[in-house]
Amino acid sequence: MPVITCIEDLKRLHKRRAPKMFFDYAESGSWTEQTFRENTTDFEQIRLRQKVAVDMSDRSTAARMLDEKVAMPVALAPVGMTGMQNADGEIKAARAAEKFGVPFTLSTMSICSIEDVAEHTSAPFWFQLYVMRDEDFVDRILERAKRAGCSTLVLTLDLQLLGQRHKDLKNGLSAPPKLTPATLLDLSTRWRWGLEMLGTKRRFFGNIVGHAADVEDARSLMKWTAEQFDLKLDWEKVRKIAQKWDGKLVLKGILDAEDAKKAVECGADAIVVSNHGGRQLDGALSSIRVLPSIVRAVKGQTEIWLDSGIRSGQDVLKALAMGADGTMIGRAWLYGLGAMGEKGVTTSLEVIRKELDLTMALCGERDVANLGRHNLLVPEDFEGRWADDPEARAQAEIHTLPA
Ligand SMILES: Cc1cc2nc3c(=O)[nH]c(=O)nc-3n(C[C@H](O)[C@H](O)[C@H](O)COP(=O)(O)O)c2cc1C
Repeated sequence: MPVITCIEDLKRLHKRRAPKMFFDYAESGSWTEQTFRENTTDFEQIRLRQKVAVDMSDRSTAARMLDEKVAMPVALAPVGMTGMQNADGEIKAARAAEKFGVPFTLSTMSICSIEDVAEHTSAPFWFQLYVMRDEDFVDRILERAKRAGCSTLVLTLDLQLLGQRHKDLKNGLSAPPKLTPATLLDLSTRWRWGLEMLGTKRRFFGNIVGHAADVEDARSLMKWTAEQFDLKLDWEKVRKIAQKWDGKLVLKGILDAEDAKKAVECGADAIVVSNHGGRQLDGALSSIRVLPSIVRAVKGQTEIWLDSGIRSGQDVLKALAMGADGTMIGRAWLYGLGAMGEKGVTTSLEVIRKELDLTMALCGERDVANLGRHNLLVPEDFEGRWADDPEARAQAEIHTLPA
């Protein structure tokens, strides 16, 4: 068994163990992948300020996300088709998150159904909704999520149309995979994955098959998903869905200060500053670069979380110090799952917590709640000519990197 010391190790193992079609699905962004790349490289531009001779005992990464106690302010973001990376993947990830003490979000496009995950976990998990044209389906899935005890609805707003990822088209991505000669050859080298898949019945989209009108098999499922994302989704519809949900509401996919204000008006308990991990609008700015403008617009009116590009505890620390109240991770936990199932998700969380804790200590902090701009060196032009509010930016405390 290889020694795992960082998220990159899990990614390598994921690549080796999961079929190419599914690893590529995880490891891709839309079109040129500029936004996908910059989500991580922009984190690298922010540097940390070391502090010495500070009492580093009694440190804590514990925090709260939407009044829930969490071991660290890092939730598992919703990821579609997780159960194809590793058999029963959603159940494994939800269990790992529960044991670790962080929230798990189940995607609408999951392989394991809401009911299935609820049956195999004991803590309430969060449910992510894609708004579909079939309103009846939407109403019923919200009811199912309520019945399963989901505490929080994460409503994703940045996918009314699917961003094009070249690799998915070239690989003929499908769940379960189409058995072409190339796929069969690839599968023959992923024996561990194949054996586990043979041992489960969960190979289709469990929230949809048997629940959406006329979706009973793979062919009707593909047709349904292609047609169903609601092109007419607008803020009025968001408000209506919010009214149907009694629990906490998170609006995900916010990348603009004005949109953040609208999300607050809709009653969002939290927003996720996110570009969907670079999978939707290629050419959009990275989440971390947009974060300051959103912090200025709505800080204190709703919780501000960030995802897209987080691959380490240092990244989590940077997001928090830049003003986020919490974070979500997507690929970082998915690599763990693809590498080693439930144990891999746990390992990814352990890696991130250790990095967060140690980095925090070396920055002279003992509590994540105290992180702030004072811990960072941010390039003077980090928001650059894109800043939408230059006056406020000038007032913000931005430390410049020494030449
Ligand atoms: C393979 C994959 C599938 C995803 N599926 C969903 C989904 O079903 N619903 C959703 O809201 N976001 C989805 N996302 C976006 C994630 O929730 C999250 O925003 C993104 O992964 C964050 O970027 P990161 O992977 O760099 O951490 C998906 C991301 C990936 C990588």
